[in-house]
Amino acid sequence: MTAPLLPRAIEEYASAYTTPETPALAGLNRETNMKRGDAVMLSGHVQGAALKMLSEMIKPMHILEIGTFTGYSAICLAMGLRPGGHMHTIEIDEELHDLAAKYIAQAGLTDRITQHTGVAADIIPTLDGPFDLVFIDADKPNYERYYEQVFAKVPVGGYLIADNVLYDGEVVLPVSEQGKNAKAIQLFNDRIRADKRVEHLLAPIRDGLMIIKKISD
Ligand SMILES: C[S@@+](CC[C@H](N)C(=O)[O-])C[C@H]1O[C@@H](n2cnc3c(N)ncnc32)[C@H](O)[C@@H]1O
Repeated sequence: MTAPLLPRAIEEYASAYTTPETPALAGLNRETNMKRGDAVMLSGHVQGAALKMLSEMIKPMHILEIGTFTGYSAICLAMGLRPGGHMHTIEIDEELHDLAAKYIAQAGLTDRITQHTGVAADIIPTLDGPFDLVFIDADKPNYERYYEQVFAKVPVGGYLIADNVLYDGEVVLPVSEQGKNAKAIQLFNDRIRADKRVEHLLAPIRDGLMIIKKISD
């Protein structure tokens, strides 16, 4: 899905000057790459460090993640939870559950992360907020739907982060040359820009992170 948007040498330089992965994250990265043909979906070292640091700055009590995959971003985000805080993460593919659970345990986060298996749009309404940090990283055509579903559960001052908002750079192509996912991301980005209830930063980290702060209901 995603290829690096930066030259490889710059990616490697950024990685070399970013705090190394913890043993649990390094093991998860390695095992995901060994076992999964779709390992490119994993956030990885630099984006993971960015998510961890953002979470540590936000100091959330409750986090919701949509799209667990093998748990890399879940572990990074949960590291910023306040004492007593908790995270919910949703993944449609039940085969991924045990691999994520294994590394969540290695990271010492089993009691702090609840894994949900199923269709995110069905599970989100069953989860009570408030969530002071939401990470949207599942199927791209549903980003706008997830945004609508979670918005009321985020308090004013809370944050949402959406991944892959550059979609391999396809968002800057004419619409006629964009694929289905890039078109959906383009609509999502336009939706965020038009929403006066939020402030937003499109950070060109890896495949693009849209960092959204809710400023009014
Ligand atoms: C890009 S990966 C998530 C990567 C992960 N957040 C990380 O950074 O390591 C997207 C995940 O969303 C899951 N997914 C796709 N559609 C979904 C849906 N409708 N409900 C829940 N999960 C879904 C996919 O199975 C996949 O594992």
